[in-house]
Amino acid sequence: MSTAGGPSSALPHWHGRTSSPEQTEAVGAALALTQPARADAPLVLYLRGDLGAGKTTLVRGFLRALGVTQTVRSPTYTLLECYELGVLVCVHVDLYRLRDASELEPLALRDLARGGHVWLIEWPQNAAARLPPPDLDIALEVQSAGHMLALDARSELGAGWLHRAVALFPQTL
Ligand SMILES: Nc1ncnc2c1ncn2[C@@H]1O[C@H](COP(=O)(O)OP(=O)(O)OP(=O)(O)O)[C@@H](O)[C@H]1O
Ligand SMILES: [Mg+2]
Repeated sequence: MSTAGGPSSALPHWHGRTSSPEQTEAVGAALALTQPARADAPLVLYLRGDLGAGKTTLVRGFLRALGVTQTVRSPTYTLLECYELGVLVCVHVDLYRLRDASELEPLALRDLARGGHVWLIEWPQNAAARLPPPDLDIALEVQSAGHMLALDARSELGAGWLHRAVALFPQTL
C-alpha cells in the first residue's frame, strides 16, 4: 500500500491484480467485512472501469459476505437495487444507461442518503456532480496481464477502511 496527495492529505492507495472472478469477489468481501459504521451519512464506494472490468463481480463478493444469497446482477435497466440486511442497507447503483442526470430523480436517492446505508455505484462518472463524493474510489481494468484493481481512499473514513482491509486480509489485498 502507498499514500498519495502529499503529507497533509496522505490518503492510502492500493493496487494489485486478480487472476479469477473469485479473487475479485474476495476483495469485495474484504471491504464488506471491514467497512466502518457511519451514523450521519451513507458510505460511498465508486466502481470505475469499462464493460466487463469486474465491477459487479466485486459488488457480488461484497454482498455475499454480508449474507446475500440471491443472484447479484448489474441493475442496468432499473439503475438501482436495494439489499436490506438487517441494520445495513446496501444500495447497488449502475449508471451505465443514464443519459441525463435528471433520470436520477425517480430513484429518490436522497431518501437513501443516510447512515446505515452503503452505496456501491458503477459508472459514477455518468452522474458527475449529482452524487456524493466517494469514501473509496475503485478502478478496474482488463489488461494483458489480467484484471487490474486500484483502490483509493478519498476520505478519512475511507482511509481507515482501506488500512483495515489491508491489515485484516493480507492474502487478498
Ligand atoms: N479477475 C477477474 N475479476 C473479475 N472478473 C473476471 C476476472 N476474470 C474474469 N472475469 C470475468 O469478467 C466478467 C466481469 O463482469 P462484470 O459483470 O463483473 O463486469 P462489470 O465491470 O460490472 O461490467 P458492466 O459495466 O457491464 O456492468 C465476468 O464474466 C467475470 O467472470
Ligand atoms: Mg456491472
